[in-house]
Amino acid sequence: FTAFSKSTMQRMADSDLYLVYHGLMLPKVAHSEESLKYLENFQVKDDDVFAVTYPKSGTTWMQEILPPLLNGGDLTSVETVPNWDRAPWLEETRAPLVLDKLPSPRAIVSHMQYQLMPSSFFKSKAKVIYVTRNPKDVIVSSFHFHQMASFLEDPGTFEEFTDKFLSGKVLFGKWTDHVKSWRKPELGDRIMYITYEEMVQDLHDALSRILKFLGRELSAEALDRVVDHCTFKNMKTNKMSNYSLVPQDIMDNMKSPFLRKGVAGDWKNHFSPELDAKFTAVIQEEMKGKHGEQNFLV
Ligand code: A3P
Repeated sequence: FTAFSKSTMQRMADSDLYLVYHGLMLPKVAHSEESLKYLENFQVKDDDVFAVTYPKSGTTWMQEILPPLLNGGDLTSVETVPNWDRAPWLEETRAPLVLDKLPSPRAIVSHMQYQLMPSSFFKSKAKVIYVTRNPKDVIVSSFHFHQMASFLEDPGTFEEFTDKFLSGKVLFGKWTDHVKSWRKPELGDRIMYITYEEMVQDLHDALSRILKFLGRELSAEALDRVVDHCTFKNMKTNKMSNYSLVPQDIMDNMKSPFLRKGVAGDWKNHFSPELDAKFTAVIQEEMKGKHGEQNFLV
């Protein structure tokens, strides 16, 4: 992060903030040619567990949930290791430094579209939890994130940002491309689809289902402890997960906390009826025939 101090950022044109990888904009603060080579050549293990998300859909949440579910309910790592080292992003610069040293089964997160996963992934039995969130709440969360993170471009007005989002000129490209890329019947029971909204509604049930999908068991008490640890209220005060370890001129939690609201439906406070109609029409058109996602727009 240190290379990206505020003064450096202010001098940088937006085009200098991102590198373009297969047409997708990735922030240079955490991605490099080397990290993307590492991604491409990464040797996936059969017992690796991936949480894949479009940004702002619940990645940090999965980084909190997966390690204790995979290690028998031990909360030590979530209490002592920052989220980016505990369940690293496969494509980011931290990955080569930490992934090889992580004990198996490893929890790994990624924002990559399906076809950009490393070739070893397709031959492996590694499991994937794909988290989707209502794109209207994704864009609201992203808008605030752009205001607090100096390594991202100024989002402009909410209306301007919506246009960029709908045309895919944002981090990791279009939401619809991402979601559609991961609807892959060939993944069979290697993939579990879950929504942010389901997790908000009943975290205990969500974690029980994830545990079952992973073929693991926890005592009722241990599961309760993990659920309690992963509530928004408790994560917000966990220094290892709330990004307060990042210098303020890189991520300014005073402008907008990273763990901001943690609810479903905040979009209603940001969208005018006209913007809502436009946004809904574009997403619905691009998701035609994919019925699951239509329901998220409410
Ligand atoms: P909001 O900005 O709407 O609050 P990501 O980790 O993919 O960048 O996503 C960040 C979003 O997930 C933020 O949404 C953040 O508050 C939310 N989030 C993280 N942990 C959460 C939790 N335990 N419960 C609810 N939302 C959570």
